[in-house]
Amino acid sequence: MIQINEHYTKLQSSYLFVEIARRVETFQQRNPDRQIIKLGIGDVTRALTPTVIAAFHAAIDEMARDESFRGYGPEQGYDFLREAIVAGDYRPRGVDVHADEVFVSDGAKCDTANIQELFDSAITVAVPDPVYPVYVDTNVMAGRTGAWQDGRYEGLVYLEGTPANGFVPPPPERAVDLIYLCFPNNPTGAVADVERLAQWVEYARSHKALILFDAAYVEFIRDPQIPHSIFEIPGADEVAIEFRSFSKTAGFTGTRCAYTVVPRACTAYRADGSGHSVRDLWSRRQTTKFNGVSYPVQRAAAAACSQEGRRELRGLSDYYLENARIIREAMQAIGYSCSGGLNAPYIWVDARGAGSWDLFELLLEKAGVVTTPGSGFGRCGEGFIRISAFNHRERVQAAVQRISSALS
Ligand code: MLT
Repeated sequence: MIQINEHYTKLQSSYLFVEIARRVETFQQRNPDRQIIKLGIGDVTRALTPTVIAAFHAAIDEMARDESFRGYGPEQGYDFLREAIVAGDYRPRGVDVHADEVFVSDGAKCDTANIQELFDSAITVAVPDPVYPVYVDTNVMAGRTGAWQDGRYEGLVYLEGTPANGFVPPPPERAVDLIYLCFPNNPTGAVADVERLAQWVEYARSHKALILFDAAYVEFIRDPQIPHSIFEIPGADEVAIEFRSFSKTAGFTGTRCAYTVVPRACTAYRADGSGHSVRDLWSRRQTTKFNGVSYPVQRAAAAACSQEGRRELRGLSDYYLENARIIREAMQAIGYSCSGGLNAPYIWVDARGAGSWDLFELLLEKAGVVTTPGSGFGRCGEGFIRISAFNHRERVQAAVQRISSALS
């Protein structure tokens, strides 16, 4: 008898964004004439930039000729991209990352989902609350949790992000082994300063723990005091892995390219207490289970890392940050307090006593605007909604007008 992985049955019935899509579709079927504006899932709307497109086309032309055609590439990514990442994203900030510590992939979602399989099933995992659901669900699938109880999984340690701590939870009193952090944060838009990140690095070092640092939204940081990489904190290379993505940065949600930095110094432990290179484990995993990202996509991503490419990307993130300002100010003008939206493309709105799904439904029904209910990100997200700044300017402007009349 073929038996299922029973841990899957502990999962909530569907992934958050699938549930939202289902509700939106039901609404659209009931109201076929209503024009819906989507400020829910963080999906980019602006085209790939000229430098990226030129490199993409040129690489496709290479694939069209026998002399320059390429078959399987290296699973970890081509050297030209790994080196462009180091030169474009790390060296300018004085961070000492080497090309062979960069692993190119097709998404930060997949990497943050897959990385946990390198570690023992009995480790203690800490996740923020609110949290990007992938970190939680993949640990549930792997059997590291008990049942779902009162909006949480037994066995996970939840790091509560609240207005009081600015949605940047401090390290817990107790010992944990694996810690997920995401800054600029999805969903709250919060950023962590050097001091707070240094506390986490210190915690991880003293507990022999490992930090999984999701920096998918780094391109949106404008405050010069905010670190762009966890590796800006001394000693972090021994206790942290960093995930980055071209999705929100370069408009690659449909093109697919990301990378994970696993420093050579990063260490996890065997049962007998001896250290083991995490980089070697990840390399082993990727070379076995992953076939690499397509050559034209990697050429396009490398172009995004060039000087001209970076200038264009800045234009993209400026555009979405202006959308964020419009949303944030419109919500504040009608009396809703918000955080995020300054160094991040998400605005985290206090629902003023309403339930997250109630406000989500109200905005869908009355304004035809899709948001994301905060409770979908965890218990601490109840009473909030997340509004995404990823859409065309005129749609964002129309959405805030509709929201203002629906809520005023
Ligand atoms: C989000 O809206 O939270 C993100 O788009 C999800 C993702 O990047 O997978």
